[in-house]
Amino acid sequence: MKKALTLAALLALSACSGQQATSQAEPVNVSSLGKSEITDIRAADAAPIYPKRGKSIERTFVHQPPMIPHKAEYPITLKKNGCMSCHSPAKAKRMKATQIDPSHLLADAKLNNEYYNCTQCHTPQAENKTELVENDFSNK
Ligand code: HEC
Ligand code: HEC
Repeated sequence: MKKALTLAALLALSACSGQQATSQAEPVNVSSLGKSEITDIRAADAAPIYPKRGKSIERTFVHQPPMIPHKAEYPITLKKNGCMSCHSPAKAKRMKATQIDPSHLLADAKLNNEYYNCTQCHTPQAENKTELVENDFSNK
């Protein structure tokens, strides 16, 4: 039954295409969206410069979540935590990274999921050439 239907569909299709091949289509006047002139040209924004690899940034107050001294675009998804591939207690030594704080771990040494979203507390620090949001924080 299924086979017969497929065959019928194929026949119908070939009948259609046969018809199209004989009639010439009228040219259509399509106006391009890209025809307007680009007047505003500027250089690309400067890329952020992160501290030299392997150097942590001094903390400014007690229990501050240390700032991330490297790019932070590692995926943190339901299936994978890209930060843990270097900072988990099992991998930190080999990756020459500080292992996560003991407060982030449960009694069985597994990551406490309350700490799963690393970048909610740890933010990257970089030499930015672009304007930053104003901040008058003081630790005094
Ligand atoms: C490819 C390995 C790698 C990955 C992936 C990685 N890091 Fe790092 N991280 C390092 C290294 C190396 C250092 C510098 C040594 C150190 O201070 O731990 C570092 C430093 C840090 C520090 C500073 C630690 C301190 O005591 O000053 C924080 C915080 C940090 N990373 C957080 C993160 C977060 C959050 C992610 C995910 C967005 C992440 N890292 C992903 C390798 C990695
Ligand atoms: C709820 C906030 C929070 C989250 C989420 C969090 N951290 Fe932290 N983290 C901290 C704080 C606060 C400290 C500093 C602890 C202290 O010194 O008292 C810290 C310390 C660290 C340190 C330095 C440890 C040391 O011995 O110097 C690393 C590395 C780190 N966190 C990595 C991570 C990674 C990777 C994740 C994600 C898996 C993560 N953190 C998630 C708050 C957080």
